[in-house]
Amino acid sequence: MNNKCIYMTLEEPHLDDLIAIAPEELVARHAQPGRSLVAVLHAIQDELGYVPPAAVAPLARVMNLSRAEVHGVITYYHHFRTQPAAAVTVQLCRAEACRSMGTEALAQHIESHTGCRFDAAHEAGAAVELESVYCLGQCALSPAMMVNGTLHARVTPQKFDAIFAAASKCLEVTA
Ligand code: FES
Repeated sequence: MNNKCIYMTLEEPHLDDLIAIAPEELVARHAQPGRSLVAVLHAIQDELGYVPPAAVAPLARVMNLSRAEVHGVITYYHHFRTQPAAAVTVQLCRAEACRSMGTEALAQHIESHTGCRFDAAHEAGAAVELESVYCLGQCALSPAMMVNGTLHARVTPQKFDAIFAAASKCLEVTA
């Protein structure tokens, strides 16, 4: 299988807008007294969709930590991103309950349908990202997945195709 996704975004990502946000201002807005580093990182990611690397130094300063400590927390938790998510982000649960209900066959279908690979490195502004996750709290309704933050349960290949078609209207096929 080709390693390259066959999709591209129709619109240029607004990375300049995101980069233009002053990291000090961003950190000051979210690093309120009594808030833990993890809570602040969640708040930043909720606002921007990711934690910009430029926020590490002001975070360390304001929270009285070393840069290495802040960086360590960001990289330890898989949830935190250091660049914007793809236009269509598929998170497929590959934990035990979902595995027993065919998530691996579903993963193969998704890779072949999208031309993308699970957990492949992607560049900022990528069109499609496939990410393995481990339990979405829907074990009784497995296999489960999230597409752009929306949870879907009892996913079949046909159901995935319909969900992906709706989510990828903003994309252009390049091959
Ligand atoms: S194991 Fe997949 S949702 Fe829990």
